[in-house]
Amino acid sequence: MEIYKFAQETILEAGRFIRRRMTEEFNINSKKNPNDLVTDVDKETESFLNDTIQKRYPEHRIVGEEGHGRDITDTEGVLWIVDPIDGTLNFVHQMENFAISVGIYIDGNPYAGLILDVMKGDLYHAAFEHGAYKNDQLLPDIEESHLASSLISTNTNWVIRDGINVPFIQVVRDARSTRSLGSAALEFVNVARGTSSAALFFRLHPWDFAGGAIILKEVGGLTTTLLGDELRLLDTNSIIAANRTIHGEIIEHFRKDEPFIKNHKAFHRL
Ligand code: IPD
Ligand code: CA
Ligand code: CA
Ligand code: CA
Repeated sequence: MEIYKFAQETILEAGRFIRRRMTEEFNINSKKNPNDLVTDVDKETESFLNDTIQKRYPEHRIVGEEGHGRDITDTEGVLWIVDPIDGTLNFVHQMENFAISVGIYIDGNPYAGLILDVMKGDLYHAAFEHGAYKNDQLLPDIEESHLASSLISTNTNWVIRDGINVPFIQVVRDARSTRSLGSAALEFVNVARGTSSAALFFRLHPWDFAGGAIILKEVGGLTTTLLGDELRLLDTNSIIAANRTIHGEIIEHFRKDEPFIKNHKAFHRL
């Protein structure tokens, strides 16, 4: 549990770094397209996490969205998968609703997941088979629910995208209603807290789901691809994070749509 304790202290320190840093000026740049933003604060926070972890544990390896560990292709040893700011668009536009996400895996097996809601100051954390917590309060197991009486979360980008959208549309129609927060890590947290019953994504990177999947499992939830397959830790995956009942209902929609399956295979290089 020494690494778990250290991870809690480190993510809280990184949160204090962001809160201090965002009161000063920072640059905002776009990456792959004009809506894909990155700020100096994303990069500096990832460097802070990387340097702090490497100083204490030089043998550990770190993969981060902003470039650390891009050459890592295996899951041997202790691997930290970090997103310094998950929800950069929220960070830029709202100055809230963003998180730091950390997933720690040992030889490819889940060890601990941590998500800090930076502006609320709430730390969600879980060590494998030791339960999930909001700060020092144990989270109860989530309740089972059916689509028809559930709030689910997904991004409208997937619902309007030709070639993959038919099952998304069906799921949205069958659900009580949908929400979209703009931080995958905090969407995982909402499922783990029971304020949302499922979160769906056509494509997420390892740093978007590595922490959340561990936290959700500790409260009885399930994370797989939208076709119900196990996640590949170092690849992009489609994602459903949900209670087990609604998970079964939703993946049925995706499994029977041939165009979705074809596009899924092409996108995810299965
Ligand atoms: C993004 C957010 C967003 C999700 C995107 C992610 P970023 O992460 O989690 O909610 O829909 O797929 O890339 O870029 O803000 O760290
Ligand atoms: Ca990003
Ligand atoms: Ca992210
Ligand atoms: Ca990010």
